[in-house]
Amino acid sequence: MATGDRKGQQIWGGRFAASPSDIMEAINASIDTDRRLAQEDIAGSRAHADMLAEMEIISAEDNEAIQSGLDIVAEEIRNGVFPFDRSLEDIHMNIEARLKTLIGEPAGRLHTARSRNDQVVTDFRLWVRGALAEAGARLAGLQSALVRRAEGHAGTVMPGFTHLQTAQPVTLGHHLLAYVEMIERDRGRLGDAAMRANECPLGAAALAGTGFAIDRDMTCEALGFARPMANSLDAVSARDFALESLAALSVAATHLSRLADEIVLWTSAPFGFASLGDEWSTGSSIMPQKRNPDAAELVRAKAALIAGQFASLQGAVKALPLAYAKDLQDDKALTFAAFDTFDLCARAMTGMMETIAFHPDAMAHAAGQGFSTATDLADWLVRELRLPFREAHHVTGTLVAMAEARSVDLADLSLEEMQGVHAGITRAVFNVLTPERSVESRTSLGGTAPVRVSEQVAQWKKRLGLEKT
Ligand code: ARG
Repeated sequence: MATGDRKGQQIWGGRFAASPSDIMEAINASIDTDRRLAQEDIAGSRAHADMLAEMEIISAEDNEAIQSGLDIVAEEIRNGVFPFDRSLEDIHMNIEARLKTLIGEPAGRLHTARSRNDQVVTDFRLWVRGALAEAGARLAGLQSALVRRAEGHAGTVMPGFTHLQTAQPVTLGHHLLAYVEMIERDRGRLGDAAMRANECPLGAAALAGTGFAIDRDMTCEALGFARPMANSLDAVSARDFALESLAALSVAATHLSRLADEIVLWTSAPFGFASLGDEWSTGSSIMPQKRNPDAAELVRAKAALIAGQFASLQGAVKALPLAYAKDLQDDKALTFAAFDTFDLCARAMTGMMETIAFHPDAMAHAAGQGFSTATDLADWLVRELRLPFREAHHVTGTLVAMAEARSVDLADLSLEEMQGVHAGITRAVFNVLTPERSVESRTSLGGTAPVRVSEQVAQWKKRLGLEKT
């Protein structure tokens, strides 16, 4: 059906004798994706028509007809009865064509002093602004879940790792609050992206501005943007607001993925630090004993998808000369997918963190293994015997080797054995060799001591508005 039987259907069809081929239509149409911009498109058109009437570019009667026609369109879309038509390409032309059917001639005046190029990016900025706010709110929800769990585990001892080797004991509350800090910076990045996205391109028209006496401040204000964009070429062609948003989402998704990976690790049988409830686990089709942390694993994978969406958009934009090119149409599918994926990941992480059962006994047992208090012993030698730290490190290393050879903990060595390595050691050293004493001693600013964790929990509860619950 590549012949001229649909001539004139396209709004831009005036100079064309034949309709596009089906394949042309398939590659060109974006309506299946950009129909999500319908309410933003209507908001943009309302603001534009009001401004055209105010500036006496169209009549007040035409504006009234346009506004009531848009009421009907909005209602039809909300009720799922709007007749979307792929041959009309995109959401902008679908809405304009429907408006023409509903109100006739005044519909044709709406596009005065406007192009789809400024129209689409206005809609898109409005959408991204809303999506950034929603993503930020989701992250605040996850922070709240983490803070609540940290509050109950300010003094729960677990092994802290470097290189995934047992390093020093830490508290579970401290570990969870580390993610609260990361996520706070993620929210900051989303907020920064929203601030820069919040400029109004409407009125840039196709690329050069317009000869009509429009009032860009008026449309800008009506749509709640901070200011009209200063350069019309920039206004229609810039997509750094979407890129920055996807970059921020990608960093945030990286943090979700790291936390997800901890869940995978902690819920494995050799660790046994935590268990997921039935609602967050799946079974194996062959191994009846399995409880798999699928949601956490998928969060880990999806972080890579979001990073890929950022890279794809960057690739689409990086070699485009100014101003608009159709390549930019594909910005929306990538951006929508990234935000949708992120939303799902954030909700899954929140659900898991709210319900995961921690096993303090297993954590405490593991915290005492691997000579985790060796640093505490070395610090004691520095503090009590005034040894230089390097010498204390050497003495402790010798004691660790002795304990290791006998397959016992440092605390199981006798005082005599210790004094054989350094004569100044006294019985008091045994006080610093337990994981509990180790974490209690870490009271420096930002340290893992339970008192510090409780202070941090209190501060976060205040910041997140959790005090009354
Ligand atoms: N659907 C198009 C997009 O998303 C709208 C802009 C089309 N502009 C054009 N000059 N063909 O980018």
